Amino acid sequence: MSSCVDGLDFNGYFNRRNQIHAESGIINAFARPSSKIMAKHAIRIESIAPNLSPSIPAQLGFGRHFTDRMFTHRYTAENGWQDPTIGPYHDLILDPAAAALHCGQMVFDGTKAYRRPDGDLNLFRIDRNVARINRSAERMGMPAVDEELHTEAIETLVSLEHRWMPNIESASLYIRPVIMATEPVLEVRASHEYLHYIIVSPVGPYFPDGFNPISVFVSHDHVRAVRGGTGEAKTPGNYAASIAISEAARNKGCQQVLWLDAVERRYIDEVGAMNIAFVYGDKEIRTPPLSGAILHGVTRDSILRLAPDLGFEMHETPMTIAEVWRDIENGQITEAFGMGTAAVVAPVGALVYQEREATLNGGQTGPVARRLYDELTSIQYGRAADPYGWTTVVPVAVDEQSLAMR
Ligand code: COI
Repeated sequence: MSSCVDGLDFNGYFNRRNQIHAESGIINAFARPSSKIMAKHAIRIESIAPNLSPSIPAQLGFGRHFTDRMFTHRYTAENGWQDPTIGPYHDLILDPAAAALHCGQMVFDGTKAYRRPDGDLNLFRIDRNVARINRSAERMGMPAVDEELHTEAIETLVSLEHRWMPNIESASLYIRPVIMATEPVLEVRASHEYLHYIIVSPVGPYFPDGFNPISVFVSHDHVRAVRGGTGEAKTPGNYAASIAISEAARNKGCQQVLWLDAVERRYIDEVGAMNIAFVYGDKEIRTPPLSGAILHGVTRDSILRLAPDLGFEMHETPMTIAEVWRDIENGQITEAFGMGTAAVVAPVGALVYQEREATLNGGQTGPVARRLYDELTSIQYGRAADPYGWTTVVPVAVDEQSLAMR
């Protein structure tokens, strides 16, 4: 892989990155010889007026501010993917008939970059996010993107945009890749043209109250996704389908919705845009298995791997709302929490179902959710060793030209 600024290649930068990988013992697809890297891709990097000290508001919220640059890459059926470019952040010019706006042929993903204590950045399980956007694209009848190029685009973009990393606890750069159908066509069929783009947003905690318990409305009448449908894909329609119910839940004082399975309306699926887990006693954690309607959460998968190493028993098991309600009432369930990229771990303080309310851990953050959040974020931020090889270190760039000098 090589990237060019006005004809310069980025070999020096990628050599340094690969050296960091080698020194940190991280062996992954990106730590590869530069000659092979050079042969594969060329991301064109357009110069922009450098913004050396971006103004980042103290009240960041989530996904409301965006950095100066974005990645774009276009596809046509005749020529495949062409012209990968990092350039200024800009409005999109779309034909009003663009297929994504009508048939919703569009997917996205989300991952984060974290500031390490040494000043460089960590990406977390970036291979999983890249695989997932292609899996989503396949489900929606869209062409896959090259995994190495997509990864390289994210690494280069966050390296250039690192100054946007907010200087507050639990901040990160949220990376949002999108693939959308751009062909102007109203027929219901696969588009012949696509845009793949990546934008970056400096973010604070997903919930305004940070790492504090949320209350959750259990939706019985409305469902999010059905097995065999598109629930596994990160496609906007799944999220759009959740909005009216989420707003109704908000009016009842709940921040999120717990979705039940669409067929029997008994089994627990997901909470909001997150996977969910329940703690039995102080050592056992249960989460529903991936059923076809549930998103393959990277945080879920990380907790499945991490929790046993911390002494917890992890089970993927179907759970009905009736069982869960009973086990909260009889005290067997001591905690519940959501798991997702945006919030990492979101403790659940209360469930509201059919006009009844059940409180978990006295409405407070429980010790298990706290421990998992602390352990996982310590790996993500590079404060703790990463025995799983989940993190990819990305050195920060001083400016576009300096990447080539390294
Ligand atoms: C996640 O946390 O994994 C999400 O997908 C949240 C995003 C839709 C804002």
